[in-house]
Amino acid sequence: MSYDALLSPFRLKHLTLRNRVMMTAHVTNMAPLHVPSDQHVAYYRDRARGGIGLIVMGFPSVHPAGTNNVQEIAGYDPRVVPGLRAIADAVHEHDTPIIAQLGHAGRQGNSAYTMLPLMAPSAIPCPLNREMPKAMEPEDLDEVVEGHATTAAHVREAGLDGVEIHSAYGGYLLSSFLSPYMNERDDEYGGDLEGRMRLPLRVVRAVRERVGPDYIVGMQINGSDFSPGGVDLPEAQVIAQRLIATGALDYLVVKGSTYFVAHQNVHDWQNPRALWLGLAAGIKEAVGDFPVFAVGRINDPVEANAVIERGQADMVAMTRQHIADPETVRKLIEGRPEDVRGCISCNQGCLDMLPKGRHITCVHNPAAGYEAELGLGTLRRAEAAKDVVVVGGGPAGMKVAETAARRGHRVRLLERRDRLGGQVRLASNVPGRHEVGEVVRYLETQVRKLGIDVRCDVEATADGDDLEGADVVVVATGSRPVRRLIGVRSHQLEDVDGLELSHVHTSWDLLEGGIEPTHDVIVVDDGEGSWKALSIASHLARSGHAVQLVTPLPFVAASLGPYSIGPYMQTVFELGIVTHPFSIVRRVTESAVELTKEGRPVTLEHAGSVVLCGWHEPVADLYFDLKARGATVLRVGDAVAARTILHAVHEGERAARAI
Ligand SMILES: Cc1cc2nc3c(=O)[nH]c(=O)nc-3n(C[C@H](O)[C@H](O)[C@H](O)COP(=O)(O)O)c2cc1C
Ligand code: SF4
Repeated sequence: MSYDALLSPFRLKHLTLRNRVMMTAHVTNMAPLHVPSDQHVAYYRDRARGGIGLIVMGFPSVHPAGTNNVQEIAGYDPRVVPGLRAIADAVHEHDTPIIAQLGHAGRQGNSAYTMLPLMAPSAIPCPLNREMPKAMEPEDLDEVVEGHATTAAHVREAGLDGVEIHSAYGGYLLSSFLSPYMNERDDEYGGDLEGRMRLPLRVVRAVRERVGPDYIVGMQINGSDFSPGGVDLPEAQVIAQRLIATGALDYLVVKGSTYFVAHQNVHDWQNPRALWLGLAAGIKEAVGDFPVFAVGRINDPVEANAVIERGQADMVAMTRQHIADPETVRKLIEGRPEDVRGCISCNQGCLDMLPKGRHITCVHNPAAGYEAELGLGTLRRAEAAKDVVVVGGGPAGMKVAETAARRGHRVRLLERRDRLGGQVRLASNVPGRHEVGEVVRYLETQVRKLGIDVRCDVEATADGDDLEGADVVVVATGSRPVRRLIGVRSHQLEDVDGLELSHVHTSWDLLEGGIEPTHDVIVVDDGEGSWKALSIASHLARSGHAVQLVTPLPFVAASLGPYSIGPYMQTVFELGIVTHPFSIVRRVTESAVELTKEGRPVTLEHAGSVVLCGWHEPVADLYFDLKARGATVLRVGDAVAARTILHAVHEGERAARAI
């Protein structure tokens, strides 16, 4: 496979970028004091070390009211300069230019962090954060223009290579002025395109004036708002041409969507790959040789290479891909594409951390956000090589095995099933969820390449021979579904009668046991509100079953991240799945499920099959047996408490480093 186009250099103004791969701006939530931190330095340094051509860091906000993350960099404050300089120095050491995005979140900001009103062209609330913004007055506009210029000056003073003006994603301030979907002003900043472009153009000119002619100034625009009455591609092409005509810009990044279609902002695996590529290509067509950068789930290097070959863009951003694997480019250069840890577009470890106020990480790269401790070059060989036996070949066990082997230990990996992968392999077999299988593919590849002694179909016991010779045993035996509804305890019920009946199954009975439910199925979520019940329900509905989905939560996808809920609920509606929110299962009989729904008794008749998609319990007998015998034994992942891939992989990494 050739990546020649992708790995070829690109001239951006006075800079020669060593390849066509970049990261677009992404908030990392690593600035608890609103100034760049050592965590930022370590994070960006590792990305630069991995060989990427260009990094855009996100997003120093240009005004206090423009903040939308709790630990965001306050770009308008001169105190950010030393920290930005430390980032620039670290990244430059590895020959990677770095640009800072200048952002104002507009009506998509968060006043809980600032106690300031949100700002917007018109008083129209954002559908995602549901807070009424202030329609900006002329002096507010002046402040925003000055905020961009001041922040740009701070970035330049700190030694970064450029700035990028954020005018994408609709509700972010500048793009909301461009979009008739949000801009209903009747003054000179609204109305026709000339009026709607007035503020963005003022910002572009002010920034250019402040940083001077020899500095890179880029801009991020929407190729389409995908929102009613918003900017579409033909209008975006005109916008792009007028922006370039200022002579003040050096490149454009092209995105799409607004928070009206929030799930498309940072689209997860439910959305098509390369969702915005047509927009970038359309803008490229309109602007000729002017540099245009494409982004948006172009996480397959083969596709990224093809984008450059086809001339659809000059650079390709693989943003989350570099959160998942900062060494993507180096591995491609070295001809090791199989070692690239592919981003699975789940958002669980990165984007979904932001509303939780947490810094980003990655479900299968434990080093992301923890670079100082776990990043490139931190893994040390063990002082004494030990015989390590890992029991359980799911993500937790495979991660332990991989990391322990890299440290020089002799590792044996035992798995009771006939293949490695554990529950993640089961999940990846659910139609539509195959991308999660990349976690298993990556780890399995490493386990094989490292020559780890893998033994499948082995049910290890404390008395058997399988653990013989082990200096350390790591129990990663995962979890299994319980045939109980633990969640009902939150509703003061002792237990639910009827779960022992033969037509009541667990999710595993279907996924692994090959049980084929009857036509009418009632799927029960026990208050987890996550992918499990949703995936099973939609899989069954797609295969022609009549599905009802019961949950005690206000809606069935209540625990999914805000950027994932939309498409999933849409799927539920389109498949005709009948949902029963606020519903607690009281009793299962031969033909019905009795609920308390919204406080009232309700009976669901024709319950041919009932599928429990409830909580799991750890499988940890081996751990307790070994512990009782005084063996050196560790426990990781679901065998400790049933949680997610993120916990499994992170714990696996740390356990192996402790051996
Ligand atoms: C954690 C996170 C934070 C982000 N923050 C920003 C941001 O501050 N500004 C911005 O323009 N885009 C932001 N994005 C969007 C990315 O720039 C990019 O458009 C998105 O990740 C899709 O590209 P990818 O599929 O290559 O990751 C963010 C994405 C993530 C995952
Ligand atoms: S958490 Fe998921 S989406 Fe984010 S970088 Fe990791 S694999 Fe990609």
